[in-house]
Amino acid sequence: MRIGILGGGQLARMLALAGTPLGMRFMFLAPEADACAASLGTHLQAPFTDQDAWATLATGADRVTCELEHVPLPTLQYFHQRGLLAPSDEAVAIAQERLHEKELLNRLELPTAQYAAVDSAADMASALAITGLPAILKTRRMGYDGKGQAMIREPGEALAAWHSLGEVPAILESVVPFERELSIIGVRGRDGVCRFWPLSENRHRNGILRLSLCRPGNPLQALAEKYCERLLVALDYVGVLALELFQCGDELFANEYAPRVHNSGHWTIEGAVTSQFENHLRAVAGLPLGCTEARGHSAMVNFIGNMPDSRQLLDIPGLHLHSYGKSAAPGRKLGHATLCGATAEQLAKNTERLIELADAAEGAPPHA
Ligand SMILES: Nc1ncnc2c1ncn2[C@@H]1O[C@H](COP(=O)(O)OP(=O)(O)O)[C@@H](O)[C@H]1O
Ligand SMILES: [Mg+2]
Repeated sequence: MRIGILGGGQLARMLALAGTPLGMRFMFLAPEADACAASLGTHLQAPFTDQDAWATLATGADRVTCELEHVPLPTLQYFHQRGLLAPSDEAVAIAQERLHEKELLNRLELPTAQYAAVDSAADMASALAITGLPAILKTRRMGYDGKGQAMIREPGEALAAWHSLGEVPAILESVVPFERELSIIGVRGRDGVCRFWPLSENRHRNGILRLSLCRPGNPLQALAEKYCERLLVALDYVGVLALELFQCGDELFANEYAPRVHNSGHWTIEGAVTSQFENHLRAVAGLPLGCTEARGHSAMVNFIGNMPDSRQLLDIPGLHLHSYGKSAAPGRKLGHATLCGATAEQLAKNTERLIELADAAEGAPPHA
């Protein structure tokens, strides 16, 4: 089967790495010249709005999916109308717009932060009356890795926040005093079968994911699965979806969903019976889904801005290294590594060493 992917970054690359043994072939529509997935298939280098490229992809692929949600809606609609796209244009479009996304989560009775739309400076006072302080102002569109967000701690900071985001349509959210950030990754097949991986526990710095831990047996697993399934069913979803959650005691608040494979699920490549990448492709292709059980405990660490020395990394026993082949730049995700073990204790020492190497590399200037 020939799979077309909108986007050519590391998620597309890992999809191709997972699908190649299944006999799948890949074509990537991606505007950048140095798309890191390119070596694993055919790269159509064109803007997402290029209609000739759409036609080439529609001819060259039996199914089309996306590795990023910020693909223009007309592009998604083109492939949807030809019966090629999974997940649907609607599932992706809602995730592109934070207000629509929060409205859907609330309609499905998933608890969320208090929120209000902000379309002008004048809206700020009434929005703050709904959310209280502290609150986070977020652009409704194009935000990722914590970009397009401003924290408001005092009423006097509200206007500065509005200006700092460029006075574009925004959403104000109350700050959820979470103990932990979690994500549940689910997959739904064309036949409606849903499966879920064990919860990931996620630690961020400067809005970017640093560390994901899979510790199977979380007592909140069933609740998280219930919320994720509601979303998968409501969207008549096909493929992998990640739901980001805030844990407060035994409650879960939904933050946002990603209509695609997700960074917090990278541990599933080595740490689960079937990875998120393989199951996404199985779902998109209409094949039976694989088992989503964890093989044990896993820890995944992102490499941001600069790659650690691979000799030092590979010196850590059992480490699985993923270097995406991207050029170094501050704040850029360049790779990750995963450690797996039977127990959390078994992993702790090596994970500490891995984090140390990742932090040291990030502090160093990028390679020339
Ligand atoms: N309402 C909130 N309360 C507390 N923390 C939040 C809230 N919204 C976002 N954050 C923090 O900011 C991070 C990035 O925000 P998120 O909404 O997930 O945007 P992005 O699309 O950039 O991932 C979250 O993972 C969380 O750490
Ligand atoms: Mg997020």
